[in-house]
Amino acid sequence: MESWRWLLVIGHMVATLLLVHSTDEVVPRLTLRYGSPKRTIKRFEAEGISHYTTLLLSEDGNTLYVGAREALFSLNSTNFMSHSMLTWEAEELKKKECTFKGKDAQKDCQNYIKILLQLNSTHLYTCGTYAFSPNCTYIKTSDFTLEKDSSGKVITEDGKGRCPFDPEYKSSAIMVDGDMYGGTVNNFQGNEPSIYKSQDSKITLKTENSLNWLQDPAFVGSAHIQESFPKGNPVGDDDKIYFFFTETGKEVTFFENPLVSRIARVCKGDLGGERVLQRKWTTFLKAQLLCTRPEDNFPFNVLQDMFVLTPGEDHWAGTTFYGVFTSQWNNGGVGSSAVCAFHMHDVQRAFSGLYKEVNRESQQWSTYTHSVPEPRPGACITNKARNMKINSSLQMPDRVLNFIKDHFLMDSPVRSHPLLLQTQMRYQQISVEKVKGLNKTYDVMFLGTDDGKLHKAVRVNGKVHIIEEIQLFPDTDSVQELLLDHSKGLVYASSRSMVVQVPVSNCSMYTTCGECILARDPYCAWSKKGCRSVRHHVHESNLQHWIQDIENADSNLCQRLNGTGPGGRGKGVEDEQQCKKIVLQPNNATTLPCKLLSNLANRQWLHNGKVIDSSYFVLESGDLILVNSPERLGMYECWSEEYGFSKIMASYCVETDSTVKATTPRPQTEMIFKKVSPIDKVVNSSKFVSVSESHTAKLLGKSYWNEFIIMTVLFVVVLVILTLFILYKHRSGMKSILKPVKHDKPAKKIRSNGKQTESLPLNGTSAPVPQADHKGYQTLNDNYIINTPVHDPLIASKIVSESEKRPLNVKDTVVEVTEVSPRPRVRLGSEIRDSVV
Ligand SMILES: *[C@@H]1O[C@H](CO)[C@@H](O)[C@H](O)[C@H]1NC(C)=O
Ligand SMILES: *[C@@H]1O[C@H](CO)[C@@H](O)[C@H](O)[C@H]1NC(C)=O
Ligand SMILES: *[C@@H]1O[C@H](CO)[C@@H](O)[C@H](O)[C@H]1NC(C)=O
Ligand SMILES: *[C@@H]1O[C@H](CO)[C@@H](O)[C@H](O)[C@H]1NC(C)=O
Ligand SMILES: *[C@@H]1O[C@H](CO)[C@@H](O)[C@H](O)[C@H]1NC(C)=O
Ligand SMILES: *[C@@H]1O[C@H](CO)[C@@H](O)[C@H](O)[C@H]1NC(C)=O
Ligand SMILES: *[C@@H]1O[C@H](CO)[C@@H](O)[C@H](O)[C@H]1NC(C)=O
Ligand SMILES: *[C@@H]1O[C@H](CO)[C@@H](O)[C@H](O)[C@H]1NC(C)=O
Ligand SMILES: *[C@@H]1O[C@H](CO)[C@@H](O)[C@H](O)[C@H]1NC(C)=O
Repeated sequence: MESWRWLLVIGHMVATLLLVHSTDEVVPRLTLRYGSPKRTIKRFEAEGISHYTTLLLSEDGNTLYVGAREALFSLNSTNFMSHSMLTWEAEELKKKECTFKGKDAQKDCQNYIKILLQLNSTHLYTCGTYAFSPNCTYIKTSDFTLEKDSSGKVITEDGKGRCPFDPEYKSSAIMVDGDMYGGTVNNFQGNEPSIYKSQDSKITLKTENSLNWLQDPAFVGSAHIQESFPKGNPVGDDDKIYFFFTETGKEVTFFENPLVSRIARVCKGDLGGERVLQRKWTTFLKAQLLCTRPEDNFPFNVLQDMFVLTPGEDHWAGTTFYGVFTSQWNNGGVGSSAVCAFHMHDVQRAFSGLYKEVNRESQQWSTYTHSVPEPRPGACITNKARNMKINSSLQMPDRVLNFIKDHFLMDSPVRSHPLLLQTQMRYQQISVEKVKGLNKTYDVMFLGTDDGKLHKAVRVNGKVHIIEEIQLFPDTDSVQELLLDHSKGLVYASSRSMVVQVPVSNCSMYTTCGECILARDPYCAWSKKGCRSVRHHVHESNLQHWIQDIENADSNLCQRLNGTGPGGRGKGVEDEQQCKKIVLQPNNATTLPCKLLSNLANRQWLHNGKVIDSSYFVLESGDLILVNSPERLGMYECWSEEYGFSKIMASYCVETDSTVKATTPRPQTEMIFKKVSPIDKVVNSSKFVSVSESHTAKLLGKSYWNEFIIMTVLFVVVLVILTLFILYKHRSGMKSILKPVKHDKPAKKIRSNGKQTESLPLNGTSAPVPQADHKGYQTLNDNYIINTPVHDPLIASKIVSESEKRPLNVKDTVVEVTEVSPRPRVRLGSEIRDSVV
């Protein structure tokens, strides 16, 4: 029994390492701490105000509106100072009622601004949770005050149905042509979700609650896509509003209450049905968004944020949906996340494909393969429908509307694989913009993490390069909102405690041509005058005087411009800078520090022009340690090498105090150092050291990877043999030990824990970390190592169920392992996806 457990532990360890190893972590090239002079951050915070939850940029871009707890602000977006503040507190009466209902006075019974939208040219529309009694109001932009009626009373509207009650609930709203579309919960308990349309402050359309079109959704975004464009096109389609959320996937049968990510859509021209589906959406359809790791189809199933990048209204077909996902199961790495991009044509294919059908009695989902009524249920009114004399949803035949009641889920998911995968980072927010480089346009992503960092990354050659990592806040608060200001080239980010502003780039922090090229920052290019912003300095006429190489980071291009080499290995010039004088102390070690150009660079120490050998001691941080001895005197240089570009980072002239002649034999310390650490390994792995510690640990492991694998495989083989032997010896004893386990453990445990997961995404920003399903995945990996995977899922489930009846037998050991911790399969969409293969 004991060794049997060991087997599982080891197996799991190996599996986890395998999984982590198999994905190449993308390390940010630069790590900039909070307050770094290279990236000045402007910050805004108001005394006594917290929870800066909503950001809105005015149409002219000059004002940033901020919604916080019980207050709103209007900031000058340039100098980031407050124009004015507007307090909008929940009334005392409402706060009392709220606490009376058992809510926390400080946490829940306040007015959290959840919706802040531009209504028209003169007014904003805002809604707050108002102490669990949602309330909406109008703000005059001219003087940033609440709109009052003729009697001087503030105009308010009941926010029920538009704004959530619970400040932790994730909702989303968008204003399109003066109408508001949103996703929220309608009631105090938070169990009545809806997607609605509100016209003139009245809910005119919503999802049909009794039909369970939504299952505990947590909304992360919404978008308006003008699919009617260009005007007069032969299809004659309508504009659509898309919603993005995570919900419980009832169609997924393997796990109890697994989470799935969704894209749902409605048509702008929907008016509801005439007899069937009165004042309900007649065009509500949803499909699964599936972001899986390619090697093993491990699903990142919890959508955290979505950014819709549209190339311009006439080119809506080229829209890309950028989503950040985390996983319900954490063996993607503790705190892992992924960025997946979905294309409009894939989304359209899913929405025009087969439907899923739910059997109302059994609640079983299946693919609907029979004939579908005309016009296509859930589609907008197109010219085809108009030719059938159907001008609006009110004229839709009843059979079409009845069909949609049970066929609102599309059969095939919209699939994608991660562009970017992090095992130690939880991305929470994403914003993307198209940036015109010298030659090409690139998609640049800004990603906010749950510990207050911003990653700026560029999509190039099908991969992602992280240009820089900036610590946005002095503390490690999660990034709540991220907003890109295209016209000013600024990024705004908010957290619980403040709002910050940071420019999209600072090209002048790259001081040489080589660094400017290596940065691979599409915002920056090099000319004789230095590294400059492309947008502000490059014009069509002077293009040939500029260089940039996002694809290859080839610093040799620098030679093309007269006078400027890459700015590195040009020894003769100023690089022969005065070396720093170091006097070696007798009987003491001296440390020579050396910082690198970037996290991607390698370090090289030269002593009198020769690369140091293994008799020198280099710390993991890259610092060189010198002990007083005659052969250690002379000139030391530390070079940073990256993509064939070298730059001298430090230079030292090491002398000895002439009064104390160092003729004594080499001190003991150095000998010890040499024994402890083989220098060559340290030197070579030192390139990772400047990366944040979490990366370091993992990457350092890499150098010993092969040795580790061989050792572990040998170990596992020995253990397997040992186990087989033990099991054979004690087969009757094992039977009685295992038997009770097999009845209550596998199925029930997953179920009871699965329940917990259900409400988890509602608990604010951090993704759920449920245990049971995660365990399922671990088990999966245990078996990956120990058994040969059974590829046919049907066979696998058969083996499990059959083995339950069968007495234990040595030849079935493998099966028995499977039995105690059944090999789970993830059933996603219509397919059973084996996450091992
Ligand atoms: C950009 O970097 C340079 C060099 O480090 C620094 O002097 C400057 O203040 C930075 N500018 C901004 C806007 O951060
Ligand atoms: C915002 O600040 C900038 C810089 O201080 C100033 O030039 C501009 O006039 C301000 N804008 C408004 C609308 O006050
Ligand atoms: C904007 O909406 C508000 C509130 O409905 C209304 O009072 C105001 O007249 C509108 N302004 C314009 C320019 O339409
Ligand atoms: C909204 O707020 C106003 C005062 O600002 C209050 O009179 C009204 O009762 C509130 N409505 C709800 C639904 O809480
Ligand atoms: C639909 O609209 C067209 C023109 O807008 C009109 O000619 C036709 O009669 C309408 N059909 C119905 C059924 O309302
Ligand atoms: C633009 O790209 C072409 C090839 O892709 C390359 O030859 C050319 O040098 C590039 N131009 C600039 C200004 O980088
Ligand atoms: C570069 O230098 C060479 C000779 O040194 C000169 O002939 C050429 O015109 C220069 N090119 C530019 C673009 O300045
Ligand atoms: C040895 O060097 C370290 C730092 O380099 C210094 O702090 C320490 O005082 C020195 N010890 C002696 C005995 O000189
Ligand atoms: C360090 O690694 C490089 C390859 O990455 C290799 O060429 C070099 O010989 C290694 N240096 C030492 C000292 O082992």
